[in-house]
Amino acid sequence: MIQAERAWNVQPYPCIAKLLFLHFDLSKSPIFDRIVSMLDTDSLLLDLGCALGQDIRRLVYDGAPAESIVGMDIHQEFIDVGYELFRDRHNLKARFIVGDFFKSCPGLEDLAGSIRVINSGYFMHLFTWEGQVDVAKRMISLMARREGDIITGVNFGNQTSGFWEKHLAVTGPMFLHDSASLSAIWRQIGQETQTHWRVWSSVEEDKEFRKLDAGGFRLRWFVELEHCVPANPCEYTMDKMSQKPDILQEHYGDRLMSDAHDDEV
Ligand SMILES: C[S@@+](CC[C@H](N)C(=O)[O-])C[C@H]1O[C@@H](n2cnc3c(N)ncnc32)[C@H](O)[C@@H]1O
Repeated sequence: MIQAERAWNVQPYPCIAKLLFLHFDLSKSPIFDRIVSMLDTDSLLLDLGCALGQDIRRLVYDGAPAESIVGMDIHQEFIDVGYELFRDRHNLKARFIVGDFFKSCPGLEDLAGSIRVINSGYFMHLFTWEGQVDVAKRMISLMARREGDIITGVNFGNQTSGFWEKHLAVTGPMFLHDSASLSAIWRQIGQETQTHWRVWSSVEEDKEFRKLDAGGFRLRWFVELEHCVPANPCEYTMDKMSQKPDILQEHYGDRLMSDAHDDEV
């Protein structure tokens, strides 16, 4: 597939080599239908690290208003390959922002307060524990911070949560989660942003993931905002992002390998 080759030449992520952009992973989430029905002019979805933007196309196909969807990626080339693959450059009404999520980006900041859903397919695992906390804080700073807001994703997970010695050629150190460590990091994120998230995750065995690491699996997850403390306005700004969190290495050792895990943190 010529588009896969072109995307691979932009950045050689395994998810491109394995053609995961043909999986439409978001549509397999248990809250996909709810996400489709949540979106409107005041309730936007940000597809963070969207790459080719397949989840955006699937949302629109299933009835979500394209005008309420914004894709973001650091590489314009991925977005261009997506337009070629789906042949919709002239009719897709979803918007795309090109930039580094860790840096101030006017197009993105303009959306602050309107984003109710963030999709992060195969994104969070690219970073260390501290990096993932920073990503989440940035996400929360941009969201509406209303009860029912959702952050969702799929990660490359591992039976032995922790730093992944091998990591990918295209990334720095990566922290791979199991269900317990995912709950622990969202507990920390909640404490540091005065927010309270319900965490759901599910371990999916996949031989392609085991080829990357013997303990590897797909970790499908979402978190849902239950409330902010104090209930409103849930103040959390970009300024606070620059303050490095005091990393508490939580007790994520008790691994929970059941198929699905629902946790209140
Ligand atoms: C592993 S790919 C996942 C792509 C897509 N979400 C999917 O599920 O197929 C990670 C994506 O995140 C993007 N990315 C990495 N760091 C980024 C950053 N700091 N800001 C925005 N995008 C970033 C990469 O360019 C890449 O497209």
